[in-house]
Order: sequence, then structure tokens, then C-alpha cells
Amino acid sequence: MSKKIKPRSGDRKGKLTARSSASKQTGIVRLRMAARYNHRNHVTLKCSDALPFLRRLPPNSTQLVITSPAYQIGKEYERNVDWNQYLAFQAEAISECVRALKPGGSICWQVGNHVRTKGRILPLDIALHPLFDAHRRTDGIQLRNRIIWHFEHGLNCKRRFSGRYETILWYTKGDDYLFNLDDVRIPQKYPGKKAYNGQNRGKYSGNPLGKNPGDFWAFPTNEVSGDVWVFPNVKANHAEKTGHPCQFPIELPARLILALSNPGDLVLDPFMGAGTTPVAAILLGRRAAGVDYVKEYVATARKRVKAAASGGLKIRPIGKPVYQPPENTPLTTPPAGYVRQSLAKRLG
Ligand SMILES: C[S@@+](CC[C@H](N)C(=O)[O-])C[C@H]1O[C@@H](n2cnc3c(N)ncnc32)[C@H](O)[C@@H]1O
Repeated sequence: MSKKIKPRSGDRKGKLTARSSASKQTGIVRLRMAARYNHRNHVTLKCSDALPFLRRLPPNSTQLVITSPAYQIGKEYERNVDWNQYLAFQAEAISECVRALKPGGSICWQVGNHVRTKGRILPLDIALHPLFDAHRRTDGIQLRNRIIWHFEHGLNCKRRFSGRYETILWYTKGDDYLFNLDDVRIPQKYPGKKAYNGQNRGKYSGNPLGKNPGDFWAFPTNEVSGDVWVFPNVKANHAEKTGHPCQFPIELPARLILALSNPGDLVLDPFMGAGTTPVAAILLGRRAAGVDYVKEYVATARKRVKAAASGGLKIRPIGKPVYQPPENTPLTTPPAGYVRQSLAKRLG
């Protein structure tokens, strides 16, 4: 594992601004970026512990929280705390997000597995759901979806099946919540399908705007997705790769932002890492706030947000198919001694 990175407790940096000609994409002429929250900022990025930053956000200020916290699995940016301290910290962060959230707003908490001794796993959505559910009666927090984000690459396990999905818990504050489904519809699989009985017989049966992407996400977005979301995770050769070890692909927060907020709304990420959520928010005309206690990540986030605002950020094109190497190349030809295993062969 790479060296531990020391989290910073505070940020001495004052106000930051970036001048640019208006970006065609974002329309921003002069990016208003600061480390202290003000509702007039386009973006507020702070290097500090998440809790003091969250406590200073006004109540009912935030339309959408999207984040992925530490999983306590020995990553270079994690604090060495025991499980109960970890849970207590998560509970406080969640309470502050709930306090800052507007009625009708949403919280999306993206998590994978916490791995314990001897490879015993604890899916973090199971562990963290009760912390959200504690706000059901008091604040109207309700679980709407448990989205599966499927990706193709990752650690190869020896004593269990390799993990190829993580989840996003989507909660709303109240039952009267914003959901812009039409903004995130994906192409119908069979657009020419017609109703074969009833009063609409012979008419096209699909929604011309496309279908609901479901709660199984597999990016690129033009792939068929039922209840799983498949976007490639950000590995070494990904166009968006920074020095952060666990970045979101921009497509992931982008879909949530389009569905769960409107232009001008505030989107918050309390564990922003390399700033992917603020970047997606700025690209989509929202305001953004983010905090991380590692100064290198915050510096990266600031750079990416400035580049996004001026239209100069490198982004993996939305919907670009995952690279499929052609057959009969050195990459796809099994070397001598490799076995082509198949379940069918073994059964039959
Ligand atoms: C899974 S990463 C988030 C990556 C991010 N989604 C991205 O796209 O780059 C979790 C982040 O939380 C930060 N973090 C963990 N505990 C924190 C705390 N108490 N306060 C602030 N940041 C924290 C870590 O430094 C790390 O960058």
C-alpha cells in the first residue's frame, strides 16, 4: 500500500477566484470559488475535517448530497479508528447532511464492503442504513432506491468471488421530492415495439423520451441497464484519472444530479476526494460545495473545477463504449497452458 497521507485540520487559503472567458458549456464568465460557504459562490471547496464544514452550512440550504465516505479498509486517506468510532462519525456526518438538506431534497451515499479480519465482509449499506432510518420519523428521511453500480474491473479475490458492484443508497427528505426522470431516460431497447391488444393496439408502446434507467447502473449509459448501473470505474487508463485512488467516474454523480436537482441548486459532497461531484455539478449548471481533509485532493479538486468551469476538463465521453480488444490479438489470445473454463463444459 502507498504511504499514508496526513489529513489537514484546517485551511488557511482564503478566497479563490478563477478568471476565464465564458465557457460555452457552463456559461460561467468568472468562477466564484471560495473556501467559506456563501450562497453566492458557484463553488465552495474546503480542506478540513467534514464535520466542522457541515456544521457551518445553513439549514435547508442543500438540494442534493452525493458522497462516498471511507470504508475503513486501510486506504491511504483513512484515519485509524475502531468500528464504533467510525459508525459514530458516520452518524454525525449523516445528521449534519440531513440538517442542511432542503425538504424534497436527496442524499445519495455510495458504499462498498468493509472487510474485516479473515476476509469477513460487512456491506456498508447494511451497516449505515439504520443511521439514516433514525431520521425517518423526525425528518422524513425515506429510502427510495438501493442502486447497484456494476463495474468490470477491480481486485481479484482468491477466497471469495471478486467484488464487481457497489451500491448507492438514495434517500429523500419527505415524500414530496424532486425526481426529474425525463432528464435521465435512456434509449428504449425496442423503440419499434407496439401494443398488441387493448385500446392502444398497433401504437408504439414505449415512452418516446426513452426508458427509466432502472436501479442497476452499468455505464456507458447506452448499454442496456435494468436495475444495475454499469459505468467503468476510474482505473489507470481512464480519461478522468487523477492521483486519487478511488475516484467516481463523472457519469455517476452526473446522472444523480440531473435526476435529483435543478440548475442553480446546491450539490454537496462531504468526502469529495478529487472533487468529481463538484465537477459534475458545475458542468451541469448547479452550485457545489465539497470538503476533504487531504490537501493534495483538494488542490486536485480546485484544478478540476476550474477546468470544468472554463470548458477545459478532460472527460470520458458519456456513453463511449468500453474498449473491446479485437479477437486474435496478443491481448486476447490465451498463452500456452491457459485453460478456457466454462460452466457448460463442466456440466456437460
Ligand atoms: C472514497 S473517497 C471519495 C472519492 C471521491 N468520490 C472522488 O470522486 O474523488 C473518500 C474521501 O473521504 C475523505 N475523508 C475521509 N474521512 C474524512 C473526514 N473525516 N473529513 C474529510 N474528508 C474525509 C478522504 O480523504 C477521501 O478522499
